[in-house]
Amino acid sequence: MFGFPGHASPDGRKSEGAPAPEGNLEAFPPGFLFGAASSCVQIEGAAAEDGKGESIWDRFCRQPGAIRDGSNPSVACDSYHRWPEDLALLKAMGLQSYRMSIAWPRILPAGKGAVNRKGLDHYNKIIDALCEIGVKPLITCFHWDLPQALQDAGGWPNRDTAAHFADYAALLAKTYGDRVEYWCLLNELQAFTVAGYGWGVHAPGIKDRGLMLRATHTANLAQAAGFHALKVQRSSLKVGIAHDLYPVHPASPSDADREACRRFDAFRNCWFLDPAFTGEYPQAFVAGNPYEAMGFRPGDEALLRAPLDYTGINYYAGLGIVAAGGEGGLLQRLDAHEVRARAIKFYPAGMKEVLVDLAQRYKRPIIITETGCNEPEALSPGKPVHDGARIRYLDAVLRSVREAITAGADVHGMHVWSLIDDWEWQSGFQARIGLAQVDFNNPVGRTLKDSGAWYGRVARSRTLPAAHTV
Ligand code: FCB
Repeated sequence: MFGFPGHASPDGRKSEGAPAPEGNLEAFPPGFLFGAASSCVQIEGAAAEDGKGESIWDRFCRQPGAIRDGSNPSVACDSYHRWPEDLALLKAMGLQSYRMSIAWPRILPAGKGAVNRKGLDHYNKIIDALCEIGVKPLITCFHWDLPQALQDAGGWPNRDTAAHFADYAALLAKTYGDRVEYWCLLNELQAFTVAGYGWGVHAPGIKDRGLMLRATHTANLAQAAGFHALKVQRSSLKVGIAHDLYPVHPASPSDADREACRRFDAFRNCWFLDPAFTGEYPQAFVAGNPYEAMGFRPGDEALLRAPLDYTGINYYAGLGIVAAGGEGGLLQRLDAHEVRARAIKFYPAGMKEVLVDLAQRYKRPIIITETGCNEPEALSPGKPVHDGARIRYLDAVLRSVREAITAGADVHGMHVWSLIDDWEWQSGFQARIGLAQVDFNNPVGRTLKDSGAWYGRVARSRTLPAAHTV
């Protein structure tokens, strides 16, 4: 079922069909999906329309100082009304896959219980239209917009949220599973648990180590419960997850730095994947993992397991350099003063590193669920957008992906973040990261950037241009 024709996965399984173009490092295997991604909070707007409930991001953006430019996503790109314009872009580029999310509070305004028929119908229309233009939908069930009603009941630190998520995911599979084959359960568990409950920079804006730890455990339980709920509805669905992973290197070859790096990697990259495949948490904390503080109960080992059909990776070309000791520049506070990490930006070669590592660790097919380049260009409505830096980024990352495939990683596709410029969470409208430009003051129409045209040519030809031409 998985596996490119003739392409060996890391555990040596080989599938039938034409061989992958091993010799040509610019050509991609026949089944590789070139796609783009978005999420509903970031593009939809219509925050209180047609029965949608409040989400934690609708609430969080009202906190003074929470969003850098003081904006909110109540209109964003107005994709709730203008989604045909978004789909027209996919068609114009000849993309084969669209990773989009569904707003939990649009389907279940209170997070559970009464279903909002208008919400369900809205995504029915988009999914039908995608099928008509031959673009595969990849549905993210949860891209951070927890219904506020569930937050009022404790949010992700409350273990019940895992069961509510599974019920919601089952409803989605029942409604859309006849047309949607690819599913992504949750987006970036690190981000909505650690940044949301530990650092307080994401909704709901809480800074509490204990709540953060509990949130990570509930998210892992939700991952597994959601996986099984979808499979019960339809066993043929391909169900996976999206994690933001990046390579980490020790600052020096010393034992102390290597051990700090191992622990950092365990928490940063494996905390949400090991439990799915093994039922166990990796050893990340010096004094032993804080199971009690996490709310871990006997028997949870079994509840955490989910043999995901694919692992999804969101890669933004960073590299973590990790040293023992010190407290400056902490990316991830495990045990205070124990681990110090700094990020190096723009490391496209890390894509290969992460893909090969992921393939070897978990031996699953991989989908790149996001990668992209925030390169704010001046707004020039209607005029061409010359975003050469984004083209160079995508070219470098795609070469790295191609190398990973040759090295044995079973990579099924890549989704550029984002299809269109969008509302970027705590950065508001300050980031411009789309393949097409949107005027947020008047989000009518979208202008395909040079990068969108370039990516469309790559997607159609399934081949990168000769290196010297980029
Ligand atoms: C990822 C998020 C996505 C977008 C990109 C830039 O971490 O999943 O929604 O904001 O970053």
